Amino acid sequence: MIERETRLVRLPSLGLRTVLLALALLVTACSDDGQERRRSLGDSPSFDDFMRVADAGRGARLFGQCAACHTVRMGAGDRNGPGLSDVVGKPLASNSRRFGYTGALRSAGGVWTPERLDAWLAAPATFAPGTSMSFRGLQDPLDRADVIAYLQTQSVDGPSTTVPPSQP
Ligand code: HEC
Repeated sequence: MIERETRLVRLPSLGLRTVLLALALLVTACSDDGQERRRSLGDSPSFDDFMRVADAGRGARLFGQCAACHTVRMGAGDRNGPGLSDVVGKPLASNSRRFGYTGALRSAGGVWTPERLDAWLAAPATFAPGTSMSFRGLQDPLDRADVIAYLQTQSVDGPSTTVPPSQP
């Protein structure tokens, strides 16, 4: 790895930016990307298998991709997207009473089971064509399982609407 870095630095045509980007990618590749867990799952893991090894802590970090549009803390309210506190197990398009959901999501029906969240997060526009959630989706099933596990930790007993907003 060090050898590769050195070679990159030596190449005269590569600017400092390119070198820094390459280093950043290397660091990312070396950090926890779930390789261990992936290996433990074998060749064709099911959704349940992914959920079994899901890491809510990593999911919390991945939630950074959602945080531009969503809060997840009780009573934190809506952004571009509805607040997601306690969303697991709720009927679709119902987690925020104030949010203006699209007909696309409202008419999808049912509740947010972990399986349905998985399908939604993989490709929102395929799950509910016409949805206003302009998010490409999480391609990696382990990423999705981690995010869903994180959302599960953000649950309370009973509907969140009966709990007063928490302090900042
Ligand atoms: C660019 C903004 C944006 C991003 C990024 C985004 N969302 Fe959304 N999300 C929305 C919008 C807008 C809706 C409402 C969709 C509709 O009504 O069609 C929504 C709806 C949802 C819902 C349904 C809530 C309910 O009450 O039924 C869930 C669950 C959700 N998003 C999860 C996520 C997760 C998890 C991520 C990150 C992996 C994410 N979203 C990323 C904007 C976003």
